[in-house]
Amino acid sequence: MALEKDIRKVKKNVWKMVEGEAAYSLKRYTSQSTAVKVEYVHRQLHAIRFPNIVPIIPTEDPLFIMQPWIEGTKPVNFRRRIDRTDSLSALQALHRTKEQIDWDASPHLHRYQLLDKWRDRLDRFIDNREVCEKFIRKQAIDEIIMYGEEALLILKKNYRKLSGHTLLHGDVVHHNILRDGNGLIRFIDFDLACTGPPGTELALWMHRVLPNVGYHLDFLLAEQSSLSDLDDASISMLLYPNEMLREWLHLLSMPKAKQESLSRKLIPFTEYALSSWPKLWYDVERNMK
Ligand SMILES: Nc1ncnc2c1ncn2[C@@H]1O[C@H](COP(=O)(O)OP(=O)(O)OP(=O)(O)O)[C@@H](O)[C@H]1O
Ligand SMILES: [Mg+2]
Repeated sequence: MALEKDIRKVKKNVWKMVEGEAAYSLKRYTSQSTAVKVEYVHRQLHAIRFPNIVPIIPTEDPLFIMQPWIEGTKPVNFRRRIDRTDSLSALQALHRTKEQIDWDASPHLHRYQLLDKWRDRLDRFIDNREVCEKFIRKQAIDEIIMYGEEALLILKKNYRKLSGHTLLHGDVVHHNILRDGNGLIRFIDFDLACTGPPGTELALWMHRVLPNVGYHLDFLLAEQSSLSDLDDASISMLLYPNEMLREWLHLLSMPKAKQESLSRKLIPFTEYALSSWPKLWYDVERNMK
C-alpha cells in the first residue's frame, strides 16, 4: 500500500511533507539558476562532509529543492552568548571550506557586489524619504542618510582591496541558522549564496548581532576573540546603517494597512540605533589599525 502523504504549507514557497516516518522540506524556486546554485553548493559541501548543512534529496523537478525535515530545530537567538559563539564558529568553518573547494571558480556563484548593493539600498531610501517622514521625525531620516553616505565614502576607499574570496551564505539572519535537537548548527536557505571576502560576511553577521548586545562593539569583540583580526575594510562596514535601511525599505514594500503596525516596532528600533551610532562610530574608528 502506498504511504499517505501529508503536506503542510510553511510559507508561500515552502512545504513540510510527511510520508510515514519520514518528513521533508520542499522549496519551490521561480528561478532555475538559483535552484541549481543551491543544489551545487550543498553537493560540494556534502562531498567534504561539512556538518552544518541539511543534505539535499534529488527531485525530478529542477525548480524544487527537497531536504529532510529536521525536527526540533530552533532558530539561533543572537541575545544568547552560546548562539552567537556557535553561529559564528559555524560561519567561519563555512568560509574555511575554500581550502578544499575553489568556490571563486564556480560558474554558479557570482561575486557579492557590496558597494553597488548598498548604494542602491541608500538611494531607494532617499527616493522614499517622504513616505518614511509620515512615520518618523525628519531628523532621524537625515541622520540615517548622513551615516549611509559617510560610510559609503569610507568603504569606497578600502573595500575593493579585499581578497581571499570564499563561499558566503549570503543571508545570515537568525531564522536561516537553526540549532537542531543535538545542538548542531545548521545553515538553511542558501538562495543568496555568492562569493566574497570572508570579512564581509562576518561584518554582516555583526550587523545582525549588534542590536542584540546594545551596539557594544568592544563587548562583542572581547566575547568573540576570533573577530579581533578582522581587517579595517570589513570593520568599517559596521558604519553603514544597514539594518535600519533594510527594515524601512521592508516596511515600504508592505501594504499600507500593515505599515502602521510595523512602524510601531521600527520607530523605537531606529531611535535606539541612532542614539547608539555616535558611540559605535567612535568604537569602529578606534578598532581600525
Ligand atoms: N529542512 C528543514 N528542517 C526544519 N525546518 C525547516 C527546513 N527547511 C525549512 N525550514 C523552516 O522553514 C522556514 C522557511 O524556510 P527558508 O528559509 O528556506 O524559506 P525562505 O522563504 O527563504 O524564508 P525567508 O525568506 O524568511 O528566509 C525556515 O525558517 C525554517 O523554520
Ligand atoms: Mg529563510
